[in-house]
Amino acid sequence: MTLREEIAKTLGKAITKMGLGTEKLSVSFSNRPELCDFQTSFALMVAKEVGKKPIELAEEIVKNAGENKFFEFSAVIPGFINVKVKNAGLNAYANDVLKDKNLGIEQVKNPRLLMFDYGGANVAKELHVGHLRSPIVGEAIKRLHEAMGDKTISDVHLGDYGLQMGLTILQLKEDGYLNAFFGKNANPNAKITNITLDLLNEEYPKASKRKDVDEEFKEKADLFTLYIQQHKEPYFGIYKQIKDLSVAEIKKNYELLNTTFDLYLGESDAYPYIDETIDIFVKKGLARESEGALIVDVAREGEHIPIPKKDPSEPQRYKNPMPPAIIKKYNGGDLYATTDIATILMRNRDYNPDEIVYVTDNRQSGHFEQVFRCCKLAGISPESQKLTHVAFGTMNGKDGKPFKTRAGGTVKYKDVLNMLIESAEKKLSDNGIVGNKELARRIGVGAMKYGDLSNTVAKDYVFDMDKFLAFDGKTGPYIQYTIARINSILAKFSGEIGVVDVQSEEERNIVLAVLKLNSSYQICYDTYSMNALCLSAFDLASAFSTLYNNTKILAEKDAERRKNLISVCVFVKKCLEKALWILGIDSVEKM
Ligand code: ARG
Repeated sequence: MTLREEIAKTLGKAITKMGLGTEKLSVSFSNRPELCDFQTSFALMVAKEVGKKPIELAEEIVKNAGENKFFEFSAVIPGFINVKVKNAGLNAYANDVLKDKNLGIEQVKNPRLLMFDYGGANVAKELHVGHLRSPIVGEAIKRLHEAMGDKTISDVHLGDYGLQMGLTILQLKEDGYLNAFFGKNANPNAKITNITLDLLNEEYPKASKRKDVDEEFKEKADLFTLYIQQHKEPYFGIYKQIKDLSVAEIKKNYELLNTTFDLYLGESDAYPYIDETIDIFVKKGLARESEGALIVDVAREGEHIPIPKKDPSEPQRYKNPMPPAIIKKYNGGDLYATTDIATILMRNRDYNPDEIVYVTDNRQSGHFEQVFRCCKLAGISPESQKLTHVAFGTMNGKDGKPFKTRAGGTVKYKDVLNMLIESAEKKLSDNGIVGNKELARRIGVGAMKYGDLSNTVAKDYVFDMDKFLAFDGKTGPYIQYTIARINSILAKFSGEIGVVDVQSEEERNIVLAVLKLNSSYQICYDTYSMNALCLSAFDLASAFSTLYNNTKILAEKDAERRKNLISVCVFVKKCLEKALWILGIDSVEKM
């Protein structure tokens, strides 16, 4: 039970004793921490119903609650009940947290199975800056669910079946890199040895540009794409080898960001389910033909209101339009929506998760709304299944526009990571630490992640390396630094560790900060946004710094007190490390 629930229970008993209902009782953190730690406005809300003045009712509840060894209740004008947690209450809480394998993070009452779809890299296309937020946000939400007791499965959902594959292979063929597979002495089982990722990163953009001006090239690429989808050799074999090459690189890049996936499936894995998916819509009468394509009307009543035309030749427009989903094109090509619907069909056959969470940028919101509605209409997703799209905003440069290279081009994912690591290395060398690349990665990535996750997920944010990397302030490195400081204290301490025994205002604030931290997890769980956790972790780190600055820990003369202060250090370290782990940020031993 959390302290807040404990308080509610104690007050609840007093209220019941008075013959009143407790439905409206809720206890919240105080917004006047100098006066109290928690408060409730229960008396203000029900006074009228029971025909009393709020302050009288509050006083009566406090009287009925009586003495309590953990809490001190007081009624204050106009009718609040303030709650101060006594040191004994804070000690009981802190020592319980230390013993708990979940460190006081409340576990969900009914654990569920969630499937996470994030990452979204495309095979044969280089990862760019737009691919950074999905693994950062997705990994954190996934870890949060794990920490709170849910089961999770993560799937990177590669873009591995589209036109980009046909284009790339066609370009490679034309440039002579695939001679072993074609021509007189062709060997469909040849091994690709002359193709590198750097080459792919050149060939795809080249082909992509060409398709816009060269109709014949585009048609050929479409055909190659179809061959791949039909598993025709040598196209399919070449595709698989290129995919393996590309996926190895993608994996490495995600791992640099502490992001891992249980499944490396992709659009291609849903391919066998496409025909069946379309059939379901046709058989249920949910699809209709329109200009040679098959479409599904997903707009709800009132949402799809046609606007009267001024002239009959005008295209029909709608008020509040939710356009129909196109599930099959006139040329039979498979579409993004269809693939996602088929993927849900596949996932439900294989895993039947209680919820599927997609993490992409907000430009895909319309797409997912259509996909989800289609799945519900067709019964591909059972009514009880929750489908969630976590839509994040754009990462902007300091000018407030989407982050670009100096020349205005797209920034590569790799370049952002290198920049982070190099900046962290510089910063470390200013502090006298040189040549520790892994440490620099942990700090650079921690800086980026905290800078990202401390914003409300839906909002755009500004990528500001200097600000993110500051060793003090609301940053990842500051929290890492706090842990490193504690490590250095612990390294110098020998002997047995005591218990948390709050003696000072500084220690009180630490335990209260952990209380807040532990209540932030539920907020993040409900909102799919990590900002509350980021801020509470900072508050805890900063509460520790105050203790550190004002208190001699290792030099404390009283041995009992010294080992209890060490216990406070361990308490803070464990809670901060857990918070960082959930955010996908590594702790560091030293920095
Ligand atoms: N590959 C896509 C892209 O680069 C993202 C995939 C997101 N996930 C999904 N199930 N559609 O935009």
